[in-house]
Amino acid sequence: MKILIIGTGYVGLVTGACLAEKNHQVACVDIDEKKIEKLNSGFCPIHEPGLPELLGKNLAVKKLSFSGTLQPAIKEAEIIFIAVGTPAKENGEADLSYAEKALEDIGRNLDHYAVIVNKSTVPVGTAKKARKILKRYYQGEFSIVSNPEFLRQGSAVKNFLMPDRIVIGADSSHSKKIMEKLYQDFDCPKVFTNLESAEMIKYASNAFLATKISFINEIAGVCEKVGADVKEVARGMGLDPRIGNKFLEAGLGYGGSCFPKDTRALYQMAGVNGYDFRILKAVIEVNNYQRKCLIEKIERAVGDVKDKTIGIWGLAFKPDTDDIRESAAIEVIQYLIGKRANIKVHDPAAMERAKAVLDGDIAYCDDPYEVARDTHAVVIITDWQHFKEIDKERLKKLLLEPNIIDGRNIYEVEEMKRLGFNYLSVGRSNN
Ligand code: UGA
Repeated sequence: MKILIIGTGYVGLVTGACLAEKNHQVACVDIDEKKIEKLNSGFCPIHEPGLPELLGKNLAVKKLSFSGTLQPAIKEAEIIFIAVGTPAKENGEADLSYAEKALEDIGRNLDHYAVIVNKSTVPVGTAKKARKILKRYYQGEFSIVSNPEFLRQGSAVKNFLMPDRIVIGADSSHSKKIMEKLYQDFDCPKVFTNLESAEMIKYASNAFLATKISFINEIAGVCEKVGADVKEVARGMGLDPRIGNKFLEAGLGYGGSCFPKDTRALYQMAGVNGYDFRILKAVIEVNNYQRKCLIEKIERAVGDVKDKTIGIWGLAFKPDTDDIRESAAIEVIQYLIGKRANIKVHDPAAMERAKAVLDGDIAYCDDPYEVARDTHAVVIITDWQHFKEIDKERLKKLLLEPNIIDGRNIYEVEEMKRLGFNYLSVGRSNN
């Protein structure tokens, strides 16, 4: 099928590359001309395993193309995806101005029936508003579909090509058939709903996962008080298939561009519609509290941090990405710098992005051992695999004081104790 995708951000690029891989003819459009130039030369602007290969391969066989304008691709497009950003405004509400601009552009250029699919995460009711906006600029026939994405950074290509489910909110049997054809080669349950339910499924899924994380973090808080070990507790809980073992890792809580934004947006959306979403409010509060707990542990281990050297392992909001949006690392480092600590950091992917947002005297190191050398404490923020595989004897020799504050519970308490570390983790017996 002939597909047009507006927005070459994270969602747009993955969608475009994967649909081309499934033999559709895909044209991607973005207003950022420099980005388009780079994409056309084969450069992948985001760190996402498997994506550069898919982009290169499908560009070469001309199943995928990038352009700064909707014409000529819109002439033949059967399906037009809107995959532009929906950043949060100050009050948590989603900012829809990019999506509205995309609709205006579509309306001004369209001259035949097409299915307009929204992939961005937008408040419930946006699809209906989209119809009104498009009608202002285009009087012909069209359909609006909501098709939320469930991609996780770091495994987005796999998630797209082998999804758990595909959710399609459609308002006509004709658009439903077109979407069925688009996804006919995807072997997974396809959930057809009305427009509002599809929009809600996305928020409800993210909010539920965020709730699981905050719930286990609250259990961790109690574990620290009563001598239980949250990892053992999570394992025991997770074996019940009704609970499931995923998203029960206690630690610094959730960051990234999705959970923080979507939980706030859903809370805000419920509120303006007259519903006080009490659980979600608590989920957000608990998540913020996790960062304070980590700072409290750093100060418990080293005392006043002024003029102390603190090593930070990890800047990304989770492993296998260079994304630092809403990463606990940023807040923790800014706090420590404010208290005049000396900071050394290492992250295998996110250092360049961090340099752009962090001010102050920070030593960016090439490896985790260099961070540890002559520091009063190492603080683990991101659970990158190579931190898990660290040579602990070597680490201990490098530290000025044997303090490890682990925000992700990556080591065994007993082993760390045996090796002589002062090891403070989350929700485990030595805290
Ligand atoms: C999340 C969802 O998992 C995707 O399904 C969804 O499509 C996406 O948001 C989105 O809305 O676009 P992502 O933000 O890439 O994906 O990250 P996750 O892997 O879900 O992790 C989110 C955060 O939760 C990370 O900071 C991670 O460290 C934290 N987390 C995760 C925990 O603290 N504990 C856990 O047990 C799991």
